[in-house]
Amino acid sequence: MIIRKQNIFTLSSFGGAVMLCALALLVGCEKQSADGPILIKFPHVTAPATPKGRAAERFKQVVEERLAGRVMVEVYPSAQLMSDDDSLDGLAFGEVQMIAVSLSKLDRLTPKFQIFDLPFLFPDLQTVEKFQASPYGQELLTSIVDRKLLGLSFWHNGMKQFGGPVPMRTPEAASGLKFRIMESDVLQAQILQIGGNPQKMAFGEVYQALQTGAVDAQENTWSNMYSSKFYEVQAHVTETNHGYLGYLVAVNPDFWNSLPDDVRVELTAIVLEVSAWANDESLSINLAGREKIIASGQTEVTELTSEERVSWQQAMRPVWDKFSDSIGAAPIAAAEAYGTQTE
Ligand code: LMR
Repeated sequence: MIIRKQNIFTLSSFGGAVMLCALALLVGCEKQSADGPILIKFPHVTAPATPKGRAAERFKQVVEERLAGRVMVEVYPSAQLMSDDDSLDGLAFGEVQMIAVSLSKLDRLTPKFQIFDLPFLFPDLQTVEKFQASPYGQELLTSIVDRKLLGLSFWHNGMKQFGGPVPMRTPEAASGLKFRIMESDVLQAQILQIGGNPQKMAFGEVYQALQTGAVDAQENTWSNMYSSKFYEVQAHVTETNHGYLGYLVAVNPDFWNSLPDDVRVELTAIVLEVSAWANDESLSINLAGREKIIASGQTEVTELTSEERVSWQQAMRPVWDKFSDSIGAAPIAAAEAYGTQTE
């Protein structure tokens, strides 16, 4: 009996000791991660000297100043770590903590952001900003939390232009051309509407596709065309400003909610400050890209007359009707109204 008791005592002490050791190890591990800086991995696909590349770097710089020792940011530009598509999965699975994919690419998850792809809906970045700040825009930030994406802010790149083998003064010039587009059904419909052949393709593949003739044409911003050197492999850009390219700056909601409150509050403030800074910079970065493309002498830039621009608007307008049910007539009307406001 005594022996049994002793045995029990001995066994339970041994078990207790093992448990304590295991606990100590666990606590040690937890302590290490709680004491060490929180790591935010932030992959994106454009070059560092683009509106998004600069915004991501500025975010890192400000975070590491104001949350020194508590939060570290690793920015991976130029699709070094992963493509946009992979980053959407990577964020959901906690492989990365922050992304800024173009709004067009969210079409894979939800039709809610399709409004940003409607051709000629947003005449300029100011109009986009008004819409993004409106209840319609703000609602979008939290609209895909169930897909593990919490939007914190919007960042601009800029307005898109058409690049290809010929000047495209009118939509007829685009007919029959194979266009690389982002992974968006609205963009697909837009190209079909002008008689083109749309090819959805990752950003990192576009240069080679233009070079080898896998596609003839593409649409993108001045800054993306310059920094990814599309001007080397396309003879013409037509300045249509027909669509908007911008980003949802998003985090994984579980990661975000797991942060200490003061860190989350500070990161939120930093994201908003960096967004204002980056959105102010985006136009000049694009205009500089435009100038450098012209200066390269490798791509000829064609500006449209107002009549030519109207012919493009009219040709593409049926795309709005195709998507007005999935987007909703009210947000489209609101965006259109912002575009006609003068001030
Ligand atoms: C594209 O694929 O053309 C863009 O989404 C690239 C970018 O992130 O600006």
